Amino acid sequence: MPRPWYETIFDERYPELFGPLERDPEEEVSRIVDLLSLPPGASVVDLGCGRGRHAIPLSRRGYRVTGVDLSYKMLRLACERADREGIAVEWVREDMREFVRLGAFDACLSMFTSFGFFNDQENEKVLRNVSASLKEGGTLLLDLRNAQKGLAGEEEDLEKTMGVPAGRLRLHVHFDRQTGRAHAEHELTRPDGIRISSAFDVRIYSEEELNGMLGRAGMHVTAVYGSLEGSLFTPGAERMVVIARRV
Ligand SMILES: C[S@@+](CC[C@H](N)C(=O)[O-])C[C@H]1O[C@@H](n2cnc3c(N)ncnc32)[C@H](O)[C@@H]1O
Repeated sequence: MPRPWYETIFDERYPELFGPLERDPEEEVSRIVDLLSLPPGASVVDLGCGRGRHAIPLSRRGYRVTGVDLSYKMLRLACERADREGIAVEWVREDMREFVRLGAFDACLSMFTSFGFFNDQENEKVLRNVSASLKEGGTLLLDLRNAQKGLAGEEEDLEKTMGVPAGRLRLHVHFDRQTGRAHAEHELTRPDGIRISSAFDVRIYSEEELNGMLGRAGMHVTAVYGSLEGSLFTPGAERMVVIARRV
């Protein structure tokens, strides 16, 4: 049985393949703190924390941060950076389908489309784990790609090539209306002609579907935005940022 994609693509190639699409994490952390009205010293878990882009700046601002990720390689990058910068974060190598810490956190983050990797049952399990790990009144922020138009057939598959510091990056995203999933391929051609690539496959949930799933998990949606800046969510928005509160 081949290993699922989410166990293989998150490695040392990640910064070159995905880095050019990332926004400034310091700015994003300021937005997160505002959107969640995070009180000083709050405990925060970053699910699928990757190389600590948000966990490290949050800890520097005085929050108590736990970063959970399945990839040893991503966690090693995170841990090395935190050590270099003298920042304390609790790094946990665990599958988000299994990670639960009862009533431990004021907030949970899922950044840069780190939700929707599995089948519907497993994705719901992640939300149940989040709910169980939040304190009563604790909040979840899901920062997701919005592909409603692609899935509704109002938009063609995405094909884009751009110049990036490490070469030329080609992105191809196919929207599968049958499965409600987006299948994306990133291919980087370095100046010496060497190519690296990765492909991933994410379930794209509508606002209504997320409302239902979060409700069943014991949370309710308090806001949906089109960006971390808090812009209005529209069908054409690039992101879907969902804030939910544990009941
Ligand atoms: C798209 S990256 C985003 C990383 C980080 N949130 C950021 O904004 O830079 C998704 C992350 O989820 C992690 N991941 C994948 N499958 C996972 C799983 N089953 N449990 C926990 N983390 C997982 C990957 O290793 C990767 O670091």
